[in-house]
Amino acid sequence: MDQSKEIYAARVRSLAPAEEPERQYYFIDVMRSILAEKAAQAGRSLTMNVVTFGCQMNAKDSETLTGILSAIGYEDSDSEDADLVLYNTCTVRENANSRVYGRIGYLGNRKKKNPDKRIILCGCMMQEPQAVEKIRKSYRFVDVIFGTHNIYKLAELLFEREVQGSLVVDVWDQASGIVEDLPRRNKYGFKAGINIMYGCNNFCSYCIVPYVRGRERSRSAEDIVAEARHLAENGVREVMLLGQNVNSYGKNTPEGISFAQLLHRVSEVEGIRRIRFMTPHPKDLSDELIAEIASNDKVCKHVHLPLQSGSSRILKAMNRHYTKEQYLALVDRIKERIPGVAVTTDIIVGFPGETEEDFEETVDVVRKAGFMAAYTFLYSKRTGTPAATMENQVPDDIAGERFKRLLTAVGEVSAKQAEAYAGATEDVLCEEYKAEEELMTGRLDNNLLVHFPAEKSLLGEIVKVELTTCKGFYYLGKLCRSK
Ligand code: 5AD
Ligand code: SF4
Repeated sequence: MDQSKEIYAARVRSLAPAEEPERQYYFIDVMRSILAEKAAQAGRSLTMNVVTFGCQMNAKDSETLTGILSAIGYEDSDSEDADLVLYNTCTVRENANSRVYGRIGYLGNRKKKNPDKRIILCGCMMQEPQAVEKIRKSYRFVDVIFGTHNIYKLAELLFEREVQGSLVVDVWDQASGIVEDLPRRNKYGFKAGINIMYGCNNFCSYCIVPYVRGRERSRSAEDIVAEARHLAENGVREVMLLGQNVNSYGKNTPEGISFAQLLHRVSEVEGIRRIRFMTPHPKDLSDELIAEIASNDKVCKHVHLPLQSGSSRILKAMNRHYTKEQYLALVDRIKERIPGVAVTTDIIVGFPGETEEDFEETVDVVRKAGFMAAYTFLYSKRTGTPAATMENQVPDDIAGERFKRLLTAVGEVSAKQAEAYAGATEDVLCEEYKAEEELMTGRLDNNLLVHFPAEKSLLGEIVKVELTTCKGFYYLGKLCRSK
């Protein structure tokens, strides 16, 4: 750093408030001036492109990241030619990592044409020291790397990059607390995710999440309800409460309330019409929660209940803490007490040691549980997890063949579940509009999708739709009347 820049940087840092989020608002202001100067030089406004990989948690984090960038003055762009490209990465499965490396290489070529381009990498993959090392060595054009615990620091890290002139890496092993009230931008005006907790304590033996997202931390119910209220006041009708295992919500919070009680509190917020949540773990889903879903009109009749495997032996090796029988009994209880509920799931094929018999147990559960949908994954070895060093890793061709068979079974079962709704008229939230076809895509309370001719102005409204034609896992329908 040259001397005048160093003096400037030291002065800016020394004036920064110590408290959060005030400190970040200060750096947003600083960055806004820096960016305005760059824009004036370029004679145009500068653009950003935020790309999100992976799950709903990342999508939620990206709303905060986008909020910060737009407060700094970046304008949206769909193109990776933007002046700032941010990848919020996922590392749950290996192929996600490979894809990211390929795309970073491509960004490097783009940066040759626009040397002032900023390339920012964050998210779960950056929590892995090997990934950061590889980027330091092979992708030297990257500007900022941070992890999952300090996304709130984006503006400060961008400032450090401007004054230091080289790669800034800031990855923490653990969270230091939850920073509330950052700028945030909703992707959809009418639905939004709300984090109710961060991290995971379950250590399923295949899963990298506890290592990259850290231990469980719940947000206070007061903050969650305040966020729901704020969203509702801004037109949001549906909220999705997010956590790796929502069943353990509430530990170490001032209120100490259960997840079911939290659902109830959120449902009291005026303007919120639908509440979804993800994900409950089958090992500790309470009767209290089932009762709340059953009795509360605002809570969607949809439970996403990851099975992972139908073999009790494999479930034990996965460290899941339930058996095939316990899982099926839970599904029965849910279906019995919540009329019309849809149960969906996640399944992993080819976990180490999985035999043909184990696999058949999984297919058996798929048939018996009657899933409305199942997300199926080929087991992916994640270095650092206990499963990665287990013996009897399943050869790719065997796992691939089982995967195909599982897809067929899932397709049959979910089509059968979906068919039961043929001819029904249901409340549908209008979520996406395709102008070319003049088709609206909406979602039922139970998460089923329906496409129907409608006007764009209905986006975000809840309307009545007749489900006319079942197309497997979705419907074609006819709009009845606006509600
Ligand atoms: N390999 C394959 N699938 C995995 N999942 C998590 N870790 C792995 C892994 N190592 C799946 C689980 C989880 C979903 C989000 O991703 O099914 O529920
Ligand atoms: Fe991973 Fe298991 Fe935690 Fe889910 S509950 S994030 S699968 S360790």
